[in-house]
Amino acid sequence: MKAAVFDAFGEPSHVLKARDVPTPTPGPGQVRARMIASPVNPSDLLVVQGLYGVLPTLPSIPGFEGVGVVDQVGPGLLGRLVKGKRVAVINSAGGNWAEYAVIPARQARPIPDDIPDEQAAAFFVNPATVLALARHVLRVPKGAWLLQGAAGSTLGRMIIKLGRHDGFKTLNVVRRAEAVPELKALGGDAVIASSDGPIEDQVRAITGGAGVRYAIDPVGGATGMGLFRSLDEGGRLVLYGTLSGEPIPVDPRLVISGRRTIKGFWLGHWMRERSIPASLLLFREIASLIRQNVLSSEIGRSYRLDQIQAAVHEAGEVGHKGKILVRPG
Ligand SMILES: NC(=O)c1ccc[n+]([C@@H]2O[C@H](COP(=O)([O-])OP(=O)(O)OC[C@H]3O[C@@H](n4cnc5c(N)ncnc54)[C@H](OP(=O)(O)O)[C@@H]3O)[C@@H](O)[C@H]2O)c1
Repeated sequence: MKAAVFDAFGEPSHVLKARDVPTPTPGPGQVRARMIASPVNPSDLLVVQGLYGVLPTLPSIPGFEGVGVVDQVGPGLLGRLVKGKRVAVINSAGGNWAEYAVIPARQARPIPDDIPDEQAAAFFVNPATVLALARHVLRVPKGAWLLQGAAGSTLGRMIIKLGRHDGFKTLNVVRRAEAVPELKALGGDAVIASSDGPIEDQVRAITGGAGVRYAIDPVGGATGMGLFRSLDEGGRLVLYGTLSGEPIPVDPRLVISGRRTIKGFWLGHWMRERSIPASLLLFREIASLIRQNVLSSEIGRSYRLDQIQAAVHEAGEVGHKGKILVRPG
């Protein structure tokens, strides 16, 4: 089969190459999916750069999520239940940027027919993280402010739409002032640009001086610090990404006497703590909220496997539009 492979960690548009590799076969408890489409997510790029929390042995094929049709199953009941079905291919080991991917049968989740391939491709990673952060980790109450960095990301836009749906207010931080009107039109209650001055001053002007009790940040560095300084006493900041690659300098007094907290979130860890019924409920909620255009992704250009270098180059560009898809078919 054809796959996007890298033999060394490095700049994705340099080290990724499309080439022929052996087609995998499913073992016990596994299924094989013929891949239809897979998004280029920041986590995929971090793996290729050698900067992710868990790294594969090389050579390796990236791609943590996507949509495909189960064409072969190994021994086991779960696999037989999904044979021939279109499924979300949740591949915690990576490997979806290929014509075929083998995953545990329990990670092949059937997708309702009315959800198009483009949305099914990005069914899991961002939607599940949005629900986990807003409804389970922070439990943002109706009427409260949720402050977020990188608000123009695919995930940030879902947070804005979920705020409208669930009744919390979003205070959105972007790095480019050009992105402000678009996010206001999407439903952001307030949108500020980090280029317009200290984040904490802008936040306090909007919230009437107190700051916010809930914040999430995937950027780190000066943005993460600005979000942390924008917390009210007792406020909580959840870190869930490393887009800037920079550490967050924290004033210990705000943590010690100000009772502000910082905590990390990783979807893989969070999912492992969910029961099977809770996971099934999560999938049903995601499908329903994609139909309501709350957890739908804005989709950008699609690329074939032999265009992988162009795909990852565009996904890494400042201000690129929509989720880039790899279409192995
Ligand atoms: N912890 C978890 O389990 C988990 C799960 C899902 C996603 N995530 C994280 O969520 C984040 C968003 O994912 P996504 O798929 O929504 O990303 P995406 O659609 O590719 O969007 C990336 C966004 O980040 C902004 N950005 C990039 N570098 C930045 C920087 N140095 N400073 C400020 N903004 C920056 C970009 O702004 P411009 O528009 O200006 O280019 C863009 O809006 C990523 O960090 C991802 O790893 C984490």
